[in-house]
Amino acid sequence: MKIELEDNKVFFANNGLKKEIHPFWLRERVNNDEFLDKNTQQRLFDPTDLNNHILIHKAKISEKYLEIDFTDGVSSKLEIDKLTQEFSNEDTIIKLIPKIKWDSTLNIKNFRYEDNFFESKIMYELLIEFYKYGFVIIKNVPTEDNFIVKFANSIGSVRRTNFGEHFNVKSKSSPNDLAYTSLALAPHTDNPYRNPVPCIQLLHCIENQVSGGLSTLVDGFTVTEDLKKENPDFYKILTEVKVKFKFVDKDVVLERWSELIQLNENKTFKQVKFSPRLDYVPVLDKNKLDLYYRARKKLSEMYNSKKYRIEFKLDEKDLLMMDNYRSLHGRTSFNNKEGNRFLQGCYIDYDSTEGKLNHLKRKLSL
Ligand SMILES: [Fe+2]
Repeated sequence: MKIELEDNKVFFANNGLKKEIHPFWLRERVNNDEFLDKNTQQRLFDPTDLNNHILIHKAKISEKYLEIDFTDGVSSKLEIDKLTQEFSNEDTIIKLIPKIKWDSTLNIKNFRYEDNFFESKIMYELLIEFYKYGFVIIKNVPTEDNFIVKFANSIGSVRRTNFGEHFNVKSKSSPNDLAYTSLALAPHTDNPYRNPVPCIQLLHCIENQVSGGLSTLVDGFTVTEDLKKENPDFYKILTEVKVKFKFVDKDVVLERWSELIQLNENKTFKQVKFSPRLDYVPVLDKNKLDLYYRARKKLSEMYNSKKYRIEFKLDEKDLLMMDNYRSLHGRTSFNNKEGNRFLQGCYIDYDSTEGKLNHLKRKLSL
């Protein structure tokens, strides 16, 4: 992958393919002090005010830099590495982290909270692990004064919902969600009825005196990939039919139409949504619905099978951070006569974790 010059034109060459780079694309990237604020990395000019026909008057490559004189009189020195990074479509670290499939045989690697945690290399490694597996567990996280909110805000910003800035998961009378009972919860994703759905859930164990109430996790990515291989018809219909997810309480009615398996534009995995207590399938032809119901049943069997599920007890001070677009979570039932089980939860969005990861990469020169 390299930059080449020919007749005052700049080319990007990669694997025998050679493409001319638009002169205006380079002109937009001039980084002299009068054109780019070094502190914010924001432009000090508006490229839409410029004449689109600016050309390259003279160009040369000297070591790591591409030096260009443009026909509007502006000269600049651009870092070749930065330009080629943009061409390789690997300009964010997230795109370089492969998702790793896992099932019940996974050995969980825990992290440990310590002083200066949020600016440390451990935090960087934790975030990489999070993007690989869709969850991480951090031990020894302080539990006083709703520390979960501080934890979330030290990565990015809490995503507030109608459940509040954070929510307390313990059994209570007249709950507005089954999470607030002692019943078992089958694997599900949270809040599929929101737009947008919260990206990441944090769950912090404050007290756990019961023998049941084990936390469960399933990798929606692994199940999706296996379903695609084993039952392509089921996979196809679940990626096409949108169902209505609905949440109702005395203050709000939230509704959202979406597929149970959502794909990116290039047909790769994007997101799973699964919450069979609040989804409403649309009226379709009877044959199509017949296929849909078989597909959804199969998907549910996979999500609920022991093959894909890990089970573990969250101890006091354990914090579980999970990707709500990828992992499904649940719990086994417990007996609240045995003692207290008290978790606190909150949400953050991907810009928090991506921003933090990019920041730590830059700061620690990794
Ligand atoms: Fe949940």
